[in-house]
Amino acid sequence: MKLAARTATLTTSATMAFSARAAELARSGRRIVSLAAGEPDFATPGHIVEAMVEAARGGATRYPPALGLPALREAVAKTASARYRVPIDGGQVVVTPGAKLALWAAFQVLIDPGDEVLVPTPCWVSYAPQIAHAGGRMIPVPMAPEDGFRLDVERLRRALTDRTVAIVINLPNNPTGAMASDEAMRALGELALERDLWIVSDDIYAELRFVAGPYPSPLRERPELAERVVVIDGLSKSHAMTGWRVGYAIAPKRLVPALGGLIGQTATGVTTFVQHGAIAALEGDDTFLAGWVASYRRRSERVVTRMRELGLTVARPEGAFYALIDVTPCLQGEDDLAWATRLLDQAGVAVVPGSAFAAPGHVRLSYACGDETLEEGLDRIADFLRG
Ligand SMILES: Cc1ncc(COP(=O)(O)O)c(C=O)c1O
Repeated sequence: MKLAARTATLTTSATMAFSARAAELARSGRRIVSLAAGEPDFATPGHIVEAMVEAARGGATRYPPALGLPALREAVAKTASARYRVPIDGGQVVVTPGAKLALWAAFQVLIDPGDEVLVPTPCWVSYAPQIAHAGGRMIPVPMAPEDGFRLDVERLRRALTDRTVAIVINLPNNPTGAMASDEAMRALGELALERDLWIVSDDIYAELRFVAGPYPSPLRERPELAERVVVIDGLSKSHAMTGWRVGYAIAPKRLVPALGGLIGQTATGVTTFVQHGAIAALEGDDTFLAGWVASYRRRSERVVTRMRELGLTVARPEGAFYALIDVTPCLQGEDDLAWATRLLDQAGVAVVPGSAFAAPGHVRLSYACGDETLEEGLDRIADFLRG
């Protein structure tokens, strides 16, 4: 008996397969230093956990509304209005089980079979399979390494065809940590208006920026863009809540019934008491965040310094907790996956092969780990390269 054709797009992500191999080695007794994590090394702040537990004890254990608790939708809208500096209301918010499901729902709603979606690369692993699952095709648009992979709208313009329906942006970027200028956001907004395109803005790392100043977003540039920008966000990275599965889409109101319909007909909604924790995250004290960002920033500097000492090229991250290292000079007739596997097997250091992020010849190094772990990992990489 056959399986539905769409299952062909649902491959295991390379990052997960690689983490599984590292975990297997660790289980066998090897001490593995993992610089592969896609999640903060900090714990969810206590007041958020308390709010969730209290809600569960208080009986918030029944079905949630498909679009999310009204108080959470309002809290998201208030936070977003402050970040984007434009009015956003709770009616534009759809709460989802993690940002990943917000993205999935957005692609399902925006893409018809045969449509093309431009994605600046390097990019996160899940865009291509999610776009393919909606029947579309991801068109990778390589950004310039010599410009630190910052968003270059001219390159996007050159990749447009009659089938292009949307552009995905992700600032700071996973895996490069790159941002974009306000000027690039203006140009992107103009392009979207001129060519009648959607912009899917994956802002999951927006709070983890090392550079001061307002967050660059097309939403801030022209009021008309509110009708064509879908923001994807959540609490996974900013509040160390990856396991809670709370994300959201902030969309033009005409998309909200379809997005909510997809979530309602699949997950029903996000666990009710978890949503109470999410409200506490957005409304409560967030002074911890500055300390976390300072740690990420300090560690990013260590990575850049140590890698450059080894003669390797790495763009200076402007946010998130990743750095993309060019390992092409180190390859011995192998690709980045084989190199990363050799590093894992011989030096006991786990990083993620760049080809998973449409960045062949590179590896992604995560510094969402303790300072000592990071230093040990960097020492081991140096020893490995010196042979
Ligand atoms: C760029 C990017 N977008 C979205 C997500 C998904 O976030 P969540 O864990 O909230 O589903 C991730 C997680 O790694 C990510 O790196």
